[in-house]
Amino acid sequence: MTNNMFFIANWKMFGDLRAINSTKKVIKFSKNKKFARAQIVYCPPYTLIEQFNKITKNSKIKVGAQDCHFLESHGPFTGSVNANLLKIIGAKYVIVGHSENRARGDTNYLINLKIKSALNKNLKVIFCIGETLKEKKKNKTNLIINTQISRGLKNIKKNKNVIFAYEPVWSIGTGIIPKISDLEKQVSLIKKMINKIWKYKNPQILYGGSVNSKNVRQLKKIRSINGYLIGGASQNANNFIDIIKKTII
Ligand code: 13P
Repeated sequence: MTNNMFFIANWKMFGDLRAINSTKKVIKFSKNKKFARAQIVYCPPYTLIEQFNKITKNSKIKVGAQDCHFLESHGPFTGSVNANLLKIIGAKYVIVGHSENRARGDTNYLINLKIKSALNKNLKVIFCIGETLKEKKKNKTNLIINTQISRGLKNIKKNKNVIFAYEPVWSIGTGIIPKISDLEKQVSLIKKMINKIWKYKNPQILYGGSVNSKNVRQLKKIRSINGYLIGGASQNANNFIDIIKKTII
């Protein structure tokens, strides 16, 4: 394996200054040449982005946000942060279409606008897709994912700044990961779906959902996966480092 691997930490609604301090360990670790293939990205809550930028300044670790508003221009939207404001504060990545935000009202249409606005601001987009347990049980996985991809990418030309993250909703925070053979098939199907729209054979696809230092050796058998979007296990520096070590070595 020689390709770069992404390790994207989605801190969700967690994190304080003490937690940031503990990531200094990860920053030190990221400078180890043995792990140069690891592309580490921290997506903390908005409130910690600036602080994260400061402490990661002299490292190759990048910082991103967990969402953005769909409008590019500024406006009277209390509590919202758009791609432009993220750019100003120094974010390089933004997660869009996370199932936790889809559940709160993000439609494929809004996600499409968010992706467009983030790309216009030169942010790299981590575009999340994935089916719920109910959809899986009804055998609707492929239909759902295909719709999410085609609507999410509507009128967007092939763009290498979009990284896809397959996160089956039933796997997030549950400790359950898909069967390795099923996941491998699913990732290859997702690649085909993207290729159909973009004529792009090798899009970057991450897996997310209960990734931890115990199951990552299994997951890494799937060579077509370009890294992981990690929730809970990314909040602890030792666990996060362990995941990276076990993947790269
Ligand atoms: P967990 O790793 O906690 O299951 O969360 C996954 C996720 O939602 C990452 O975006």
